[in-house]
Amino acid sequence: MCGIFGYIGEKRAAPLVLAGLQRLEYRGYDSFGLAVLDRDLWVWKKEGRISRQSPEVSRRRGRTAIGHTRWATHGEPSDANAHPHTDCKGSIAIVHNGIIENYASLRRELSSRGHAFRSETDTEAIVHLIEEQYHGDLLSAVMAVLPRLEGSYALLAIAEGYEGIVAARQGSPLVIGISDRACIAASDVTALLDHTDRVVYLEDGDVATLLPSGPALWHGGEPVRRPVQKVDWAVEEVRLGGFAHYMLKEIYEQPSVFSTTARALLAEDVPDVLKDVSGITLVACGTSYKASLLCQYLVEEYCSIPVRAEIASEFRYHAPPGDDLVVAVTQSGETADTLSALKRARMHNHATLAVTNVLGSSATRLADHTLFMRAGPEISVAATKSFVAELAVFLYIADVLSGGRLRSSILSGHEAIGEALLQDLSPAVELCRDASSLFFVGRGPFFPLALEGALKMKEITYIHAEGYAAGEIKHGPFALLSQGTPVVALCPPGESFPAMVSNIREMKARGVPLVVMGDGESQELRDIADVLVPLPDGDTVSAVLAATVLLQLLAYHTAVALGRDVDKPRNLAKSVTVE
Ligand code: M6R
Repeated sequence: MCGIFGYIGEKRAAPLVLAGLQRLEYRGYDSFGLAVLDRDLWVWKKEGRISRQSPEVSRRRGRTAIGHTRWATHGEPSDANAHPHTDCKGSIAIVHNGIIENYASLRRELSSRGHAFRSETDTEAIVHLIEEQYHGDLLSAVMAVLPRLEGSYALLAIAEGYEGIVAARQGSPLVIGISDRACIAASDVTALLDHTDRVVYLEDGDVATLLPSGPALWHGGEPVRRPVQKVDWAVEEVRLGGFAHYMLKEIYEQPSVFSTTARALLAEDVPDVLKDVSGITLVACGTSYKASLLCQYLVEEYCSIPVRAEIASEFRYHAPPGDDLVVAVTQSGETADTLSALKRARMHNHATLAVTNVLGSSATRLADHTLFMRAGPEISVAATKSFVAELAVFLYIADVLSGGRLRSSILSGHEAIGEALLQDLSPAVELCRDASSLFFVGRGPFFPLALEGALKMKEITYIHAEGYAAGEIKHGPFALLSQGTPVVALCPPGESFPAMVSNIREMKARGVPLVVMGDGESQELRDIADVLVPLPDGDTVSAVLAATVLLQLLAYHTAVALGRDVDKPRNLAKSVTVE
């Protein structure tokens, strides 16, 4: 969602902040802005994309600046609602991520004292509160204001007459990069990689001042030290590297992501939380939830341990899950619903495990233990390589819990992914691109994959798509099937094959165009399918991994054929940090 970037150092800050904001574009945004401090404060903010740059930006000489990409929550996307927001005199500026829940009462209170509001945002209340406290020491002013705020924030503030950027964090991520004679703050680490690999993650309740010489941190009014950590992501990983889109690049990274993640975990000691597990509840959202559902099938098949996957935002509406280990699955480690579920699990004294891609993310701090996916930075809004990395983690868990039964599937998984990348999906794309609606169906572990295939398709092509357990189609959705609603059917060889074949025969009888992913040698499938895309005939794991990649590529190429903005689909944010 919103992104924050701030720079203080020896270089001109404005172009660096704009470049930093461009690194954060992938999080999703509808407007952007920056404030540059020279002797005076200069603010420029606009609705729309950062490419609409002002020539004035490059003329700004100030060495201190803060910037923001906004994803509207309070008030429509507009120039006025874009950050930074300033006080009545225009001499203090702040950028803010998160939500101030008591903003309405603060706003009434401040208005009654004569403050003029120029936006509909919750953020603006903060800067007017700071204005009342600021007498030359911005750090003290911010510290005085923070106790008045209810909700979540990561914020940066600058002011005329004050040297430095003041940063504060409560519930929204904020990380500080330390470089030679510069200090940079950002809402995620990918934006810092152009400058440094040395970072400090702020904890909830931390306040910091940033100077070119480095940051100084406070917690509860007392100075505090936080470790400087080395990020092992390289700046090349956040560049396109010759690919047309990040999504495609990330799809192609999957063979190595899968084996790197699996091999790294296999080389570690088995964590205590995975010893004596009697049941597992996974909590997750979106693609991570679909991966969790798949985990349910895999672990139950190989380990006979009850597993359930829950949509994180629904977790609170159910009774706590007995003695289960609660596993929060989140690429970003910052998804608000998943973090709430994790907090609830801790409240009920469950052992907790985070499965995440981001070192230092909130999920890692909340859970008893973390298993890292080694996916590298995922820039495209559509999650692809993180799904495969999550599967690698789940296969590792299934392997541990089953006493090593999945080892050979894990070690060869990357081959199935690599082979799937070579397939030509253009006939399938032709069949899907003009559809008004698409159905994806599968059975067993291929049911969650059908859900994921539909999610990928709808989020980047904007074609309505639904995933279904193949056996459920006759219980209602059949009414919608026609020549205009192609079906993508996952028919791997194995136990579910005969039932899948009868399901798709019934669809065929209604004239439904069929893309079938299954045994390329099967005469039966060749007769039924309009397009047959072969899946490997090895074990379930290979077929699952191959189908994953094929569904991603189908969505990707269909979106490209339709001219969609693949990496930044409309209305979506990479990391959903509000409930
Ligand atoms: O960072 P997370 O894994 O917690 O994100 C969860 C979802 O927001 C995410 O998977 C979303 O569904 C994807 N953008 C879909 O491609």
